[in-house]
Amino acid sequence: MKNTAYINEKIKSFNRVISVPGDKSLSIRWILMASQASGISVAYNLLKSEDVLNALQAIKKLGIKYKINKKICKIYGKGLNGFNFKNNTTINAGNSGTLARLIFGLLINSKNQIILKGDQSLSKRDFSRVIKPMRMFGQNINSKNQKLPIKIKGTNYPRPINYNEKKGSAQVKSCILLASMKTPGKTIIKSIPSRDHTEKLLKYLKLPIKTYKKKKLDLISYEGVKNYKGFDYKIPGDISSSSFFIVLTLLAKNSEILIKNVNVNKSRTGIIDILKIMKAKITLKNKKNYNGEYIADIFVKSSKNLKPINCPLKMNSRSIDEFLLIFLVCATADGISKFNDIGELRNKETDRLKFANGFLNKIGVKTEVTKDSFKIYGNPNLKLSKTYKIEKFDKDHRACMLSFIAALSLGGRWIVHDIDSINTSFPSFISLLKNLGAKIS
Ligand code: S3P
Repeated sequence: MKNTAYINEKIKSFNRVISVPGDKSLSIRWILMASQASGISVAYNLLKSEDVLNALQAIKKLGIKYKINKKICKIYGKGLNGFNFKNNTTINAGNSGTLARLIFGLLINSKNQIILKGDQSLSKRDFSRVIKPMRMFGQNINSKNQKLPIKIKGTNYPRPINYNEKKGSAQVKSCILLASMKTPGKTIIKSIPSRDHTEKLLKYLKLPIKTYKKKKLDLISYEGVKNYKGFDYKIPGDISSSSFFIVLTLLAKNSEILIKNVNVNKSRTGIIDILKIMKAKITLKNKKNYNGEYIADIFVKSSKNLKPINCPLKMNSRSIDEFLLIFLVCATADGISKFNDIGELRNKETDRLKFANGFLNKIGVKTEVTKDSFKIYGNPNLKLSKTYKIEKFDKDHRACMLSFIAALSLGGRWIVHDIDSINTSFPSFISLLKNLGAKIS
C-alpha cells in the first residue's frame, strides 16, 4: 500500500452530517471487561482499529474467544478467573498504551507468566507508572528500565492498596481498578481527575465501586471480589476522532458540520470548552445517555476572529489527546496563547510537545517551549504556500492526522509520510475527508 499522502489544495466549503467510528477508550475497556464476565457480551459499533484489534488478540491469547462481524462483536467470557494460557505466552499490544497498561490489572492473579511487548513507539514509553502500584498488589514484574518488553506473573494472594495517582492518568487509575476487581478487600485510589470511563462502566454493571470528590481530587474505592454476567454495550462515536472534523470545520471557509452520536463525557470534552472560550461556534444537540455515558450531536460552524487562550489547568487532562489540534487553532488566533503543566504530552505516542513546536515553526508560527509549557504567537492571517514534508513522528496517528487538517484548512503543498499510522485509531479518516470534498492523492 502507498504510505504517503499528497495534499495540494485547501478543502472547499462543505455543509454535512457525518458519524465517526466508535470510541477507542470505550472499545478497549469493553473488551477487557467482557473478557472477565461470565457468559456472552455483545458490543455494537466497536471501533475496528489496530489498537482495538490488538486488544481482541490479547484476550484470545489469554484463552477467551470472540467473534466479530460488521455490526457486532461477541466475547465469550469465562468469569474473573477464566484466563487460560501457557507459561511465557506473548502479548503484543502494538501501539496501544491503553491496552498495555490496563492488561497488567487483569493479570494480577495470573498463574503463568506473560511477556508483554509493543511496537517501537510503545517500547520507548514509561511503564513505571503501572509497575509501582501493581507491585504493591503483589504482582511479579520483570523489566529492563521499566520499559517493554516486560514479564508479568500474578500473585495467588493479591493485597488491596491505597494509591495516590498523581499524573492524572486514566490508564494508571483503570489498571488499578481492574486489579481491584480480582483482589479481596477494599482498594482506594486518590486521583487527579482523568477520564472516568472505567468508573462509569463498573457502575453500569452495578459493581461495588464508589466515587466522590474531595477538594480537587477524585476518591474512588472498589470492594472485590464480585462476579458479573455478560452484558450488551453500545459504543458511541469518539470525541477524539470527531475533533479533527471540529477543527477542520472551524478553520475552513463558510462550512458547517453535524457529527452524530458522539461521547461527550465531561472528562473528555476539554477541547469543546477551550474552543468555545476562544469564541468558536460549537453547540451540543440532542443529548442522551448510552449505558451510563453522555452522548450528543456536535454542531460546528466556521469561525473567524478566534481569541487566544490562557488555558486553565483543569482542562489539561480533559483534552489530553486533543492538544495538537488545539495548538493549530491557537496558531490562527489573534494573540498569544499559553499552556502550562502539559509535560505529559512528552510521554505520548511521540513527544507531542516537541512535535507541535517543530510543526508550528515549520508553518511560520512563533512559539516558546519549555519542558512543560508552551506559548503560541497566533497569526489570524496565516496562509501557507510552501511545501511541507511531515516525517519522523514515531508514527504517531494524531500527529499524522493533524497534518491533514493543517493542509486542508491553511493551504500549501503537503507530503505526509507513514499514513498507515492512522489505522491505530481511525482507519476511515481519509475516506471521510474525501467524502467532504478533500483532494488527497
Ligand atoms: C487513555 C488515557 C490517556 C489518553 C490515551 C487513552 C485511556 O492516557 O492519552 O489516549 O483510554 O485511558 P493517560 O492515562 O496516559 O493520560
